[in-house]
Amino acid sequence: MAPQLKLRELKPGFGAEILDVDLTTADNETLDAVVDTFNQRGAILLRGQEMEPDDLMSFISRFGQPEGHTQKQFTLPGYPEIFILSNREVDGKPIGAHNDGVGWHTDYSYKEEPVKCTMLYAKEVPPEGSDTLLADQCAAYNALSEERKAELDGLKLHHSYQHLMSTREFGRMELSEEMKAANPDVIHPLIRTHPANGRKALWVSTGTVKEIVGMPNPEGLELVDELVDFVTRDEFVHRHKWQVGDILMWDNRCTLHTGTVYDDTKYYRLMHRLWVKGDKPY
Ligand code: SIN
Repeated sequence: MAPQLKLRELKPGFGAEILDVDLTTADNETLDAVVDTFNQRGAILLRGQEMEPDDLMSFISRFGQPEGHTQKQFTLPGYPEIFILSNREVDGKPIGAHNDGVGWHTDYSYKEEPVKCTMLYAKEVPPEGSDTLLADQCAAYNALSEERKAELDGLKLHHSYQHLMSTREFGRMELSEEMKAANPDVIHPLIRTHPANGRKALWVSTGTVKEIVGMPNPEGLELVDELVDFVTRDEFVHRHKWQVGDILMWDNRCTLHTGTVYDDTKYYRLMHRLWVKGDKPY
């Protein structure tokens, strides 16, 4: 019989904190139940974990194949699938990407097969600021009227890495021809079906979205903004306040997320980020 995990919802109907599990010593059945909880709940949190890079790799592999990162310069030496988010510098050089995830988005949406899940492991956190916010896109979809669902059903979004990197607030950059060729634009549905549980999500995003296919701008992007405002209303959002040792994982197939800024003249933040390969949205 599958072990019964002790759970506390992150928000009514969304996400779960999993209590009393040490990921480095838990047995296979418990770890399978952790993966199952992730697939059903949209996000999971485990606090007080002490994870070496090999532990992170072994745990993330239970969710699927770890995915590499578009920007290679901030991966942990020897671990190409562990990306460093930080404002720390060593010998005057940044060791990680700073404010990389600020702005509502879903990870890797500029790829044909966006990542299924994102995991952040907190190694150093400011005492204030730097929260991560998660929006439940299934709850937002379910809150739409049947008429609105029918209007939105079938719409497609044009996602572009080039657009993201030339318009984002932090870390804007000109892409090399090689990077452009490796990241061609893609088209994804606005309403996405979750492959593990069949639930529908209002899978809108910002940053990578250049237009709604077949709808001229500015109307198209105004609709995108309106939908992002809707999905990120307080009633659909969980605010995570970090502690060192937290593992927070969210399901990019049904959530939107954003990092938030902090006083980087006073505090340091250091996170390890890992991704898992996903499949083509439908
Ligand atoms: C991300 O968007 O990948 C990171 C979010 C955060 O740093 O809080």
